[in-house]
Amino acid sequence: FNVPIAVNEPVKSYAPGSPEREAVLKAYKSMYNSKTDVPLYINGEDVLTGKTRTMSPPHDHKHVVGSYHLAEKEHVEDAIATALEARKSWSQLPWEQRAAIFLKAAELIAGPYRAKINAATMIAQSKTIHQAEIDSACELVDFLRFNVQYMTEIYKEQPNSSSDAWNRVEYRPLEGFTYAVTPFNFTAIAGNLPSCMALMGNVVVWKPSDSQVFSAKVIMDVFKEAGVPAGVINVVFGDPAMITDTVLASPDFSGLHFTGSTFVFKELWKKIGNNIHNYKTYPRIVGETGGKDFIVAHKTANAKQVATAIVRGAFEFQGQKCSAASRAYIPKSLWDDVKKFVIEDVKSFKMGSPDDMSNFITAVIHEGSFDKLAKYIDQAKSDRDAEIVVGGGYDKSKGYFIEPTVILTTNPKYTTMCTELFGPVITIYVYEDDAYSDTLKLVDGTSEYALTGAILATDRTAITEATTALQNCAGNFYINDKPTGAVVGQQPFGGARASGTNDKAGSAQNLLRWVSPRLIKETF
Ligand code: ALA
Repeated sequence: FNVPIAVNEPVKSYAPGSPEREAVLKAYKSMYNSKTDVPLYINGEDVLTGKTRTMSPPHDHKHVVGSYHLAEKEHVEDAIATALEARKSWSQLPWEQRAAIFLKAAELIAGPYRAKINAATMIAQSKTIHQAEIDSACELVDFLRFNVQYMTEIYKEQPNSSSDAWNRVEYRPLEGFTYAVTPFNFTAIAGNLPSCMALMGNVVVWKPSDSQVFSAKVIMDVFKEAGVPAGVINVVFGDPAMITDTVLASPDFSGLHFTGSTFVFKELWKKIGNNIHNYKTYPRIVGETGGKDFIVAHKTANAKQVATAIVRGAFEFQGQKCSAASRAYIPKSLWDDVKKFVIEDVKSFKMGSPDDMSNFITAVIHEGSFDKLAKYIDQAKSDRDAEIVVGGGYDKSKGYFIEPTVILTTNPKYTTMCTELFGPVITIYVYEDDAYSDTLKLVDGTSEYALTGAILATDRTAITEATTALQNCAGNFYINDKPTGAVVGQQPFGGARASGTNDKAGSAQNLLRWVSPRLIKETF
């Protein structure tokens, strides 16, 4: 199990004049005008179905950057058949060979493909270069490297033996094929979900989000160049219901690895339940879904630190992180200072297209998201128990731009304290300093989700109290930090309740879901 020691990929700065900045701007420009036509990828072949949909960047939605092909039912069936055929050799390949392929993929992304994958993420998912670099370069590379290390930790786990009986466990891939469904908001997740299942010897049908087609194409090009054989990972785009129904109707379906909305995940789970008598094996179900992530400040916290946690936690990545802070509870004695710092920070942000690298925030992903956010902002402007502290503007004439917005409410159960918005909007409730314990109860009782949360305090008793009172409210809990920014290999990521199955992305625990151990006892 002597594999290269996994290290986090350093984040590049993209300083003016730096070669990495020039490279990514060049890639962005050429991709922006390329009219790229993205095929399906089945059995190692590009498949042009003839039925296409155009793609436009969220920050410039009248400009067409390309199109992608849509699968029919027969393409999904081909992807399944092909995967099952590829499984015959892939599942028997020595694990070192699989590991080497994905380690090579990591190096391709860290090196020759870095500018391209960042540009694809900037254009189609509307991320700034710094957001793209953290996501599609570093986090994806980290997943690929650390998963190899986690795989060996699993393989090392063996039962006791004696001189006349040797007990050993073989970590077999699941029988059948697996299904990966990935979200628009992280290129790293797009790459991780199919690849970690494949690393463990599984074969995969992968449906990326429609808004992620550009980066999915780059990921697949990388996997192919790194040596992933034909049929091991197959990519289909198109009607999600048709694709999912076709996949879940197969008796060989053996696992779902999902990141996306709570509603869709529950619908998929229901469909799997309805089909359970048809499957050859009980399918594994792993999902990371919604969030209503919180920040609680105690009166002993530092106001500047609280403001930074709010601003970075809520507005980086346009608030489109499942971990993004979207509700905050601030004690009255800190509020004036926190408010002043938050307003100062927000007013200093520039919003606009990602190719202007001085922009801090870009557009939200699509019109549906924009309209939903605008509706809640308007409601807050007119509701008597809410007001806009800063932001509140929006404009979709060129791109889907929503200003970073802070809503203040006097009602701790106000709609935007409870509803997941998935955009750059945070709602704040100010509580009486001596109502700390009651406020912690409110935090627990306000949301069905339990993904991330943060407590800011200098008083140790207050920290302990929050850590205990909020123990079921977050799979990732941060003390004196923002609730975002989990790094692979350092903070395995995932939540419970309506936020998911909490099989931490970037962990041995996650990879264990993709194997079916066989115990072999041999007596002498
Ligand atoms: N890794 C991302 C974060 O924690 C999801 O913000």
